[in-house]
Amino acid sequence: MGPINNIKSATGKGVEDVVVKATASSEDMPRGPACLIEEGLDPCSLIIFGASGDLTARKIVPALFCLFVYGVLPPRTLILGCARSPMDDDSFRARMEAVVSSRPHYHPDKWAEFREMLFYQPIEYGSLDSLKAMEARLRRLEGRGHKRGRLLYLAIPPSIYRTSVEAIGKVGLAKPEGEHILWTRIVIEKPFGRDLESAIELDGLLHKFFREEQIFRIDHYLAKETVQNILMFRFANAIFEPIWNRQYIDQVAIFAMESGGVEHRAGYYEEAGVLRDMFQNHMMQLLALTAMEPPARFEADRVRDEKVKVYRELRPFPLEDLGSHLVLGQYTRAAVEGKEVPGYREEPGVAPDSLTPTYAKMKVFVDNWRWQGVPFYLTSGKRLAKKVTEIVVQFHRIPHTVFREVIGEEIAPNRLTLGIYPEEKITMTFQTKRPGARVCLRAVTMDFHYNEGYTGPVLESYEKVLLDCMLGDQMLFWRQDGVELAWAFLTPVLEECETCADRAQRLKFYRAGSWGPELPELREPPPAISSQ
Ligand code: BG6
Repeated sequence: MGPINNIKSATGKGVEDVVVKATASSEDMPRGPACLIEEGLDPCSLIIFGASGDLTARKIVPALFCLFVYGVLPPRTLILGCARSPMDDDSFRARMEAVVSSRPHYHPDKWAEFREMLFYQPIEYGSLDSLKAMEARLRRLEGRGHKRGRLLYLAIPPSIYRTSVEAIGKVGLAKPEGEHILWTRIVIEKPFGRDLESAIELDGLLHKFFREEQIFRIDHYLAKETVQNILMFRFANAIFEPIWNRQYIDQVAIFAMESGGVEHRAGYYEEAGVLRDMFQNHMMQLLALTAMEPPARFEADRVRDEKVKVYRELRPFPLEDLGSHLVLGQYTRAAVEGKEVPGYREEPGVAPDSLTPTYAKMKVFVDNWRWQGVPFYLTSGKRLAKKVTEIVVQFHRIPHTVFREVIGEEIAPNRLTLGIYPEEKITMTFQTKRPGARVCLRAVTMDFHYNEGYTGPVLESYEKVLLDCMLGDQMLFWRQDGVELAWAFLTPVLEECETCADRAQRLKFYRAGSWGPELPELREPPPAISSQ
């Protein structure tokens, strides 16, 4: 972090917010493709299962195109899309171009080169004959002479994982290496099961054919630059770690608030709800990064070992007093910015009496020396006032106020905010004297914006995830023990919530466009989101 400068002038009366800017010094900033990748990638074949679906068009192919534009994709890369829909190479290419052409990196000349890498093969997921035909075509496309890696990407619904993985394994596509194969890896998207039992079952299926180092379980939150930055912030600075514990920190709040509704995903969301959709994965990762001990080295397994310890130390929910630790909500119809927005139960594909929660706030404790007694409030929901993702660390109040006689008001505790969306930033609030003859305090905010002073390329999460898969770096991917521990923590809660007799009474309704339900149940008021 560079020098602190540019203290904006304060307006208003009494305690007020002022912004103090911290800038990054430009000499510290690595530039250009060098910060994307250090070594060349192996030539690679990407086989996308589910290539006619939404994820392929919206995320995977645009991300690959972007890597191509950055010059990172190795020569002789080939991308073979597979799905049930009948299509040929040209119609697949046209379909992908229709999406990519609206993205900022699109350039017709670059696309003309990239499209030559794209191919399509219709398949039946569970059919060995169909997969053998696909494999034969893949070999023809790959040609002979150059060894290459193979990345199998499952962008398919979990309901067909079993048949697909069995067929992939049986036709020999899972072999870790071969005559002209340098490596084979498989990428799977969440949900990794829907409870502990199904997660173990899915893992058993994958391990029937793949080794753990071949399996890449994606959590796109981990690929966000500012999420990765949590570790740099904590462990590359000497001043924060000594105060990162119960002695100085009063509470931590992690928010992943969304303004969008369930959109076209009701089929999936009705089954998942917010706890499976956001908490078992993204929220658990944010919690682990905030609470974990420093790993001895920045290596995939060392980092993941430390995260797993956090999951192991989570205090089980008190099922007999769940209401004081967990609030579930669902959005209702309301006008948002002058436009009427449907309630969750009115969304297409949602049951009119659905009890699926679209919002949850939970209070969790990490039972170890560092965090004993410090509540972590995790909140996420759909159709809220604003899309905001951030971690707020609230420090203890000062133990004694020497200004009691003169100021008479409560002095707000210091607060550190790690902003992930929309502003990628780190802010610290503290008290200073307000200029003038009268003794008066004002809260000022020291503010660092993540991209300030940086002009090089920034990878979006799917670009980063795909790059790491090709590099074979598992740092940003879930390891199976973490998946199971996260489920072990949440499964009893899910069971209790989904089977209790007063399920309907427990669900709190909130208006679309609000900040969620009222929370009298959580005894201490958690810190508010910074932009509320
Ligand atoms: C996905 C969830 O994993 O993450 C979605 O399934 C959610 O429901 C999304 O909207 C949020 O991701 P982001 O990157 O937009 O914060």
